[in-house]
Amino acid sequence: MIALGIEGTAHTLGIGIVTENKVLANVFDTLKTEKGGIHPKEATEHHAKLLKPLLRKALEEAGVSMEDIDVIAFSQGPGLGPALRVVATAARALAIKYNKPIVGVNHCIAHVEITKMFGIKDPVGLYVSGGNTQVLALEGKRYRVFGETLDIGIGNALDVFARELGLGFPGGPKIEKLALKGEKYIELPYAVKGMDLSFSGLLTEAIRKYKSGKYRVEDLAYSFQETAFAALVEVTERALAHTEKEEVVLVGGVAANNRLREMLKIMAEDRGVKFFVPPYDLCRDNGAMIAYTGLEMYKAGIKFKLEETIVKQKFRTDEVEIIW
Ligand code: ATP
Ligand code: FE2
Repeated sequence: MIALGIEGTAHTLGIGIVTENKVLANVFDTLKTEKGGIHPKEATEHHAKLLKPLLRKALEEAGVSMEDIDVIAFSQGPGLGPALRVVATAARALAIKYNKPIVGVNHCIAHVEITKMFGIKDPVGLYVSGGNTQVLALEGKRYRVFGETLDIGIGNALDVFARELGLGFPGGPKIEKLALKGEKYIELPYAVKGMDLSFSGLLTEAIRKYKSGKYRVEDLAYSFQETAFAALVEVTERALAHTEKEEVVLVGGVAANNRLREMLKIMAEDRGVKFFVPPYDLCRDNGAMIAYTGLEMYKAGIKFKLEETIVKQKFRTDEVEIIW
């Protein structure tokens, strides 16, 4: 079977075409902003403008036509309302025009579900991106959130810190590079709050220390990463201990970070569990993960009526019953 997936919860519009075990196409375009931040209107215009050319490109790359598609999947939420509506409208229009079934997919769940294309069965997922930071895993028939950020996403925190240092956007890769030259650990507020995470205190203190002029930026970048990532690994490890699962996966845009990968890998090895990171184009926001999850849902008998395709800005991870 072949599924088409459209992703557009935030600044990336992505279109993916997949089968049960292969990505046939996965194309995207990300709205470029100078400073990061949230731009609902610009994202809406961006997605509307690029839908048609990206769809054409995806079909071409996959070597299929719309008639070959078995199901159309779209990112139903959580995300920016106006951006979600462009994507949902496009998915509905295609479903009607080509008389295809349609399913709405939870974006956070799709980030983790795509790892199953690579043989992962039942993982704890650490989903880290600009806007999201969640530790999630199946318990019963739902993905439960074992810990999440109470304020900003880790990617966002890295972006803001990099901006303060005058490094430009996106900040994650720049901080990572700088941190490699760090020599001394500078104490910063730890980001674990109960089972959850909070990065705003860490961010404020790192900026304050930078502005004091008393510290090397390399040491600050290094310490920022060590402190924030240790918190992420701690919450992930606790979820592993609680669920007794045997796999842990790292997904989301921040999964590009080699230091975070290394720290998680060490933790996984200590616990004797499998650690997996999908190829980066399937980690970041992308249409293939939406297509893949939509395909699993459809094969389990899920099909949405058009009135059920309404977007969910605050779509919760534990709202979806996982019957596939
Ligand atoms: P979402 O809508 O899921 O929140 P997003 O819009 O943030 O996603 P992504 O592509 O998933 O988009 O992630 C982008 C984030 O990843 C940015 O905050 C960026 O700084 C961060 N990032 C990218 N590469 C690295 C890296 N090497 N180290 C740390 N962070 C990184
Ligand atoms: Fe995402």
